[in-house]
Amino acid sequence: MASDSEHLPILLLNGPNLNMLGTRQPEVYGSDRLDDIVDLVERTAADLGFGVRAVQTNHEGELIEAVHDSVGKISGIVINPAAWTHTSVAVADALVIPEVPIIEVHISNVAAREPFRHHSYVSPIAAGVIAGFGISGYEYAVRRLVTLVS
Ligand code: DQA
Repeated sequence: MASDSEHLPILLLNGPNLNMLGTRQPEVYGSDRLDDIVDLVERTAADLGFGVRAVQTNHEGELIEAVHDSVGKISGIVINPAAWTHTSVAVADALVIPEVPIIEVHISNVAAREPFRHHSYVSPIAAGVIAGFGISGYEYAVRRLVTLVS
């Protein structure tokens, strides 16, 4: 197995309201918390020889600046853009700047929810999209990202 130092880290981005997981609509998002997601991603990535830089923010500009700061420093991006999925050209424009593969994750099956959740500004620039697998989707996203960048 490769060691962390051989690879640039994975950037894990979580958008607005995902800091409230665990108490936020558990019937939709389950009982796991953001910390559980970060742990799962870190463990999965470490097994595959990758470190993780994790950012959650409720401020669009902060997420965009985290992407800008990552240029040249990351292998790829795993992102749950949350509501910005459906609204933000600015987030999508930022995500292409580092020129690394992007995997989009949604905890819920957005295609089975309200029509406004059916459109994603991120999907057209993503290497893959995972939705409706709960927080396991983040693990699958890391595994797929690693196969793309190794
Ligand atoms: C979400 C789905 C989005 O529609 C919603 O705005 C979220 C979470 C998901 O993980 O299922 O905040 O991205």
